[in-house]
Amino acid sequence: MSCLDTSRDIESAYAKFVVPTYARSLSLVRGKGIKVWDAEGREYLDFSGGIAVNCLGHAHSVIAETLHKQASLLVHTSNLFYTRPQVRLAEELVGLSGPGKIFFCNSGAEANEALYKLARRVGHDAGRFEILTAENSFHGRTLAGIAATGQDKVKKGFDPITPGFRYIPYNDLAAAEAAIDEKTAAILIEGIQGEGGVTPATPEYLLGLRALCDRHGILLMMDAVQCGMFRTGTFLSSGRILENTDGGEDFSFDAVSMAKSLGGGFPIGCTWISEKYQDVLDAGSHGTTYGGTPLACAVALSVMEVIREQNLAHNARRIGEFLGSNFSMLSAKHPDRVVAVRGFGCMLGVEIIEPVAGAVSALRHAGLIVVPAGRNTVRWLPPLNVTMEECTRAIEIFAAYLSAPLPSPKES
Ligand SMILES: Cc1ncc(COP(=O)(O)O)c(C=O)c1O
Repeated sequence: MSCLDTSRDIESAYAKFVVPTYARSLSLVRGKGIKVWDAEGREYLDFSGGIAVNCLGHAHSVIAETLHKQASLLVHTSNLFYTRPQVRLAEELVGLSGPGKIFFCNSGAEANEALYKLARRVGHDAGRFEILTAENSFHGRTLAGIAATGQDKVKKGFDPITPGFRYIPYNDLAAAEAAIDEKTAAILIEGIQGEGGVTPATPEYLLGLRALCDRHGILLMMDAVQCGMFRTGTFLSSGRILENTDGGEDFSFDAVSMAKSLGGGFPIGCTWISEKYQDVLDAGSHGTTYGGTPLACAVALSVMEVIREQNLAHNARRIGEFLGSNFSMLSAKHPDRVVAVRGFGCMLGVEIIEPVAGAVSALRHAGLIVVPAGRNTVRWLPPLNVTMEECTRAIEIFAAYLSAPLPSPKES
């Protein structure tokens, strides 16, 4: 067994034993709230939230207590049996999403897989199978996930790509209308494109797509894996995007995928399917051994309870306004460096002039963890319970980075 005392020990063991699908940095050993520490005891502010997962921060006591309590009661049963936590969580999610039912799984890619299968089943008898997704979208790393993703880089070397997906420019209603044909079964979009660069859908796009899908009798589906679970200040980002728009209150998708923050760090995903289509995936048509275990569902329920009791949706909104206005000030101060500020709540992007990889690395050296999005966007995904003081410290680090000379192309 390797000695894993130092970051260097851990990194060399990874080089030997772990498939190198990720460009990693930092050997993290401990976390509390927004903070994490590496093997040498260096402290970092984690504004990446495990890529939009740790919605209550690290090592939250309620998650730890629920894990302990439920693990002592019932961890896993398979889906051949009924359990209380699964149906309680389903009821909760239906209450938040609208009339319909929930399919449980373990990850975002799997939650999307249920969307693809739903759309194909609904369209099957009419010969409709194709799903239109957006350019620059991201829908996960399975074979269907990379086929659905509107970015070439994820498909490289994996031909033949699963058929049945076609890409349309995001936020372009006319292009969506032109792309629909007799094979189209559904349109799938992210409410806010995350990996692609933190780009929200416009209200007109959402309402226009709804009308278009209704007119053609096809499904409108949302991948809310990253932008859901109150991250933007409302349960789904569509609620936030449409909150001041006429007709927004009646808007709904036909199906929505969720994961990431749902379990606050414990793996769980789900797909909400609206009443009209809720029984299309019937017994034997879809499934997964681990989906919706009592343990995962109990944790998700406790995460929801904390979000509700502490009104973290409101905090996400306040934080978004605070960070957003500070980013706008930094943008005004550094027009040569900052191109745009986008997003809502605890899902914000600051597009900069230089390649983002170098910026993320420089910020990490300064003690701030953020994630790249697209080629040039610094993505901020803090936990929903982050404080103004923690944000102020992160802004100071970011401001110091922007005040320093542009890193040379070699550094970035
Ligand atoms: C919008 C979106 N959909 C799907 C996925 C895939 O989720 P997972 O990695 O849990 O399979 C991600 C992951 O980043 C995502 O951001």
